[in-house]
Amino acid sequence: MGSVSLVSAALRRLEGKVALITGGSSGIGESTARLFAKHGAKVVIADIQDELGHSVCKDLKTESASFVHCDVTQEKDVENAVSTAVSRHGKLDIMFNNAGIIEKTPKPNILDNDKAEFEKVVGVNLVGAFLGTKHAARVMIPARRGSIISTASVCGTIGGVATHAYTSSKHGIIGLMRNTAVELGQHGIRVNCVSPYLVSTPLARDFFKLDEDDEEKRVYSNLKDAVLKSEDIAEAVLFLGSDESKYVSGLNLIVDGGFTIVNPGFCMFPQELILDS
Ligand SMILES: NC(=O)c1ccc[n+]([C@@H]2O[C@H](COP(=O)([O-])OP(=O)(O)OC[C@H]3O[C@@H](n4cnc5c(N)ncnc54)[C@H](O)[C@@H]3O)[C@@H](O)[C@H]2O)c1
Repeated sequence: MGSVSLVSAALRRLEGKVALITGGSSGIGESTARLFAKHGAKVVIADIQDELGHSVCKDLKTESASFVHCDVTQEKDVENAVSTAVSRHGKLDIMFNNAGIIEKTPKPNILDNDKAEFEKVVGVNLVGAFLGTKHAARVMIPARRGSIISTASVCGTIGGVATHAYTSSKHGIIGLMRNTAVELGQHGIRVNCVSPYLVSTPLARDFFKLDEDDEEKRVYSNLKDAVLKSEDIAEAVLFLGSDESKYVSGLNLIVDGGFTIVNPGFCMFPQELILDS
């Protein structure tokens, strides 16, 4: 192998791997599908937005990207998505449980929170991740390898940032990840989470009423001049999916510019002082 091909092989960090991405038609899932394909993975996008999912696959301009309709709340759909990835490509190396929703409007008073709506959010975010983890494990256990990644959130670590249902579902995802990491580690399977801070995707824009380029609502980040994009989350997922993280399991990889490590009401480094000095 010449030096140029050695370099390109090193740059394609998922060469030969097969990945299934739920919620891959939009936002963080779409960015991850694009980055994974760039790194040589065969990608199957599983989503309820069929048209969008097909168009992402078409745009990837590779026969290795395909779409399967899948509502993650339906076990038959998740089972079928996993089986489809295996029948198309012979195996499943990476399962990315990323599909998620949040209520249309914040209802800060718990008395206004509706049981059906709570169950809907938990059904997609947490039960969906459970079903994805379960059916990925079904095919990964015999293979004795695999990487399962779920999208949690900063709302999986702290309270008060989003709705009760969303926060509960994201805490639950981290619990599920930790428990299954212990179990599935016995089979050589790694299980991790990625936890983004606010990223401007359709989900976040609808909920926080942001314009596409609205940066104002990101002032709570600790990182000056850095704006979190879905591509940055994809990079974290790439790390967890690749062999570079071969000994990383049970990790909640928080990508938040330090947002969750400080109580801004009791901080030694107030922004005004830093900016003045
Ligand atoms: N955007 C943020 O600020 C942010 C922050 C932290 C965590 N997250 C999490 O990131 C993940 C991706 O969200 P996003 O921000 O990219 O939003 P998005 O709306 O762009 O993408 C979510 C995708 O999930 C799909 N989906 C919804 N319900 C589904 C179902 N029942 N079955 C299958 N697919 C379904 C949607 O069709 C969509 O393609 C979610 O789990 C979300 O909670 C987002």
